[in-house]
Amino acid sequence: MKDYIIAPSILSADFANLGKDVSDVIKAGADFIHFDVMDNHYVPNLTIGPLVCEALRAYGIKSTIDVHLMITPVDEIIPQFAKAGANYITFHPEATKHVDRTIRLIKEQGCMPGVVLNPATSISVLEYCLEQVDMVLLMSVNPGFAGQKFIDSTYEKIIEVRELIDAVNPNIRLEVDGGINLKNIAKVAECGADTFVSGSAIFNSQDYKKTISQMRELISQS
Ligand code: DX5
Ligand code: ZN
Repeated sequence: MKDYIIAPSILSADFANLGKDVSDVIKAGADFIHFDVMDNHYVPNLTIGPLVCEALRAYGIKSTIDVHLMITPVDEIIPQFAKAGANYITFHPEATKHVDRTIRLIKEQGCMPGVVLNPATSISVLEYCLEQVDMVLLMSVNPGFAGQKFIDSTYEKIIEVRELIDAVNPNIRLEVDGGINLKNIAKVAECGADTFVSGSAIFNSQDYKKTISQMRELISQS
């Protein structure tokens, strides 16, 4: 039995009551907190930075925080996120000049690195870095906004990356992000994902606990 992780994206949380909303979603069964960082430069939207991560830790959030950097440049902000309490730090390879250097920096700072592939990014970027990372994040929407539709070509990509990961180190997490809901999560799991980001499908639901339990049920049956 695989160890499946549900990681609600706080992009769809109530930013005016973020501490409480995050704590509620953890009580409802969330495993990781997916923390979307956007800079209005790499992506056309602007969100939150290390101060907010630090504030969540100060509020008492103890869960694993999975920081997804949609920013360029990348390296400057990594020590700040490490200090703010991040656990995973993932970045888009095309957003940094030196992918291997960025991976090393994340590790030196005591965090777990991951690389993020956009829908049209080839999995060939993993060829010389897969062994160095703790996570591969496949985007199933173009990064920048919550509530977009899942792009179907991701299914095939998940199958291909699962094969690569199993050949190198099955402990590397295979995370999928964007448009995941109760209708498609079983298929995402079947293809080989083990970590599921979901923003609007969880935070826009009336009952977080019910939605997360239903997701878990669907994943476990796959
Ligand atoms: C998109 C973000 C995702 C997104 C997920 O750029 O990385 O984390 O907000 O939200 P949903 O589940 O609504 O697509
Ligand atoms: Zn994300």
